[in-house]
Amino acid sequence: MEQTFIAVKPDGVQRGICGEIIKRFETRGYKLVAAKFVQSSEEHMKSHYADLKDMPFYGGLCKYMSSGPVFAMVWEGQSIVKLARMMLGETNPADSKPGSIRGDLCVNIGRNIIHGSDTLENAKREIGLWFKPEEMVTYTSCAQAFLY
Ligand code: PPS
Repeated sequence: MEQTFIAVKPDGVQRGICGEIIKRFETRGYKLVAAKFVQSSEEHMKSHYADLKDMPFYGGLCKYMSSGPVFAMVWEGQSIVKLARMMLGETNPADSKPGSIRGDLCVNIGRNIIHGSDTLENAKREIGLWFKPEEMVTYTSCAQAFLY
């Protein structure tokens, strides 16, 4: 099964949206295999967003992402990398359809409440950056028999 890295950003944590986001992934049929609150350093965020280092918003984004706790998670399930990104909506909430997380819950690109890995390769990299292997839980949920 595929795994992806999902993080509720500091604005989502402060607005009390973690529960709503967990609910959406759970009710979709995905399995939570790791979760923790992290007060991240700016250095850590610079590694996380290393691909964006030439973008004008890179410095501000890294500073913002380390300004408060992030709720970091690993979710597992069929085609989860692609489908989680569809659940999130577009990067800019203004382009996100109602029904998506960003389309329902936020308005500004710099405060778009949630991060999700964009490719399987990046999901593996990000999971390794945020979680130690012993923080990941392996279990069989009985729901899987009805989902797949
Ligand atoms: S880009 O510009 O094509 O690289 O953008 P994208 O791949 O859609 O987004 C990469 C991450 O950068 C964040 N982003 C921004 N943050 C602040 N301000 C602005 N203007 C901005 N534009 C893009 C965007 O939210 C992506 O981060 P994550 O954590 O994946 O949401």
